[in-house]
Amino acid sequence: MAMLAVVLVLLAAAAGAAEGLGVNWGTQASHPLPPKVVVQLLRDNGIKKVKLFETNLDAMRALAGSGIEAMLAIPNNMLHDIAQDSGAAKDWVKRNVKRFDFDGGVVIKYVAVGNEPFLGAYNGSFIKVTLPALENIQNALNDAGVGDRIKATVPLNADVYNSPAKNPVPSAGRFRSDISGVMTDIVKFLAKNKAPFTVNIYPFLSLYLNDNFPLDFAFFDGNATPVHDNGVTYTNVFEANFDTLVAALAAVGHGDMPIIVGEVGWPTDGDRRAKSSHAQRFYDGLLKRLASNRGTPARPSQHLDVYMFGLVDEDQKSVQPGSFERHWGIFRYDGQPKFAMDLSGQGQNTALVPAKGVQYLSRTWCALNPKASRNDIGKLLGAKIDYACTNADCTPLGYGSTCNGMDAKGNASYAFNAYYQAQSQKDEACDFQGLALPTETDPSTAACNFTIQIATSAAAAVRLSVSAVAAALVVASVQLSLSW
Ligand SMILES: *[C@@H]1O[C@H](CO)[C@@H](O)[C@H](O)[C@H]1NC(C)=O
Ligand SMILES: *[C@@H]1O[C@H](CO)[C@@H](O)[C@H](O)[C@H]1NC(C)=O
Ligand SMILES: *[C@@H]1O[C@H](CO)[C@@H](O)[C@H](O)[C@H]1NC(C)=O
Repeated sequence: MAMLAVVLVLLAAAAGAAEGLGVNWGTQASHPLPPKVVVQLLRDNGIKKVKLFETNLDAMRALAGSGIEAMLAIPNNMLHDIAQDSGAAKDWVKRNVKRFDFDGGVVIKYVAVGNEPFLGAYNGSFIKVTLPALENIQNALNDAGVGDRIKATVPLNADVYNSPAKNPVPSAGRFRSDISGVMTDIVKFLAKNKAPFTVNIYPFLSLYLNDNFPLDFAFFDGNATPVHDNGVTYTNVFEANFDTLVAALAAVGHGDMPIIVGEVGWPTDGDRRAKSSHAQRFYDGLLKRLASNRGTPARPSQHLDVYMFGLVDEDQKSVQPGSFERHWGIFRYDGQPKFAMDLSGQGQNTALVPAKGVQYLSRTWCALNPKASRNDIGKLLGAKIDYACTNADCTPLGYGSTCNGMDAKGNASYAFNAYYQAQSQKDEACDFQGLALPTETDPSTAACNFTIQIATSAAAAVRLSVSAVAAALVVASVQLSLSW
């Protein structure tokens, strides 16, 4: 009996933690996992909420009937049109929401209008259009009769509120002065429609962007020097950041507005601080924190609503924010888990369930041709590596990354293989004027993986061409947290 009770308590705790947990499903990859494989992966791991960056028919079809709750998204490049034309908003809602909103369809809970549209990197391009686009979408949802269940929100970067320099304690949080007017209006509109505020919080970026940032303060288990704020003690930047937003909302009269953390996570390559061991430590603390069902000091009883960023690595993301940008997945590009992770927040040393039914290309790598002449190497190699790395992902070669420190030959082989795999192992993709040669001997080392790409089926090929068009249109998602 006692045993059974313990088991039941454990099960209840497990279900409770995974309940609130969502994940971002990005698809900027040369060989994205097929949507059906992804949806099965989510189900196998008990992840019940997903956030998308575009609407993709195959993704929606795969989600239909799964019971997984979806946040759909309108990319920034559509904001101008939707802001100017309420008909375009209605049309978007009809094609992307109404079409899938039926019993056995997709459980749509939110529409994300834009993605971090007020980032400094966008030079203000979206400041005028974001609120009108939000209004047009929520009004279209209301007109379609679904506005009571489906809310429009805007995922914003934490840099919409002030940096700690101007804002030394969370309770002093205010929206950034250059956008305080529009932020106030957005908050008012969200409140009127009972919609949540969505914010992306990146302790990794706090560390990456500030060499003096105390490492332990980025994690949840640290012995960092705490921040004291009117009798409240903060021991991690996540809570300090969250409560800075609570203060900024309170300052415009909406301190009780529900908050969704639209993205939070830790990358595993591309920087000396982007390491699996740090990612594991970060998620371990975050997941235990979520399972505790405690809120933050400013919101002790609010259950934290969090979407991890992200599901899988994406080898075609822009590296403008940094080389780590392609390595945010809790899974590798092929749906294999990277490190021990217990989504139930019980801190068990368990592995995520890997993706099922993934097909790989043949076990063939591309490497520097051992017979290449010194002369050719001297003359051509630099340009060939540049070409390969411009068209494929070489970020693991950089300083502090998993494949850093190889000799020049190792670098060349890594670059050639990355290109060959990105090109789905086409014969002509492993030549480089005779400098490269396919090989069946795996050049990987203990630290550095020379990957084999996954096979994309005919269906996936169609999907790829759709997303190639989308990718050309979508401004790469750039994360730049200048605040906490
Ligand atoms: C923003 O401005 C900078 C400098 O003027 C420029 O290099 C960059 O391309 C601009 N970015 C966008 C998205 O317009
Ligand atoms: C290998 O490539 C990396 C990244 O481009 C570079 O920093 C390093 O110096 C290269 N190593 C050699 C021996 O060329
Ligand atoms: C390399 O890939 C294998 C799977 O093929 C994986 O098990 C291993 O963890 C990877 N190693 C690194 C350093 O990423």
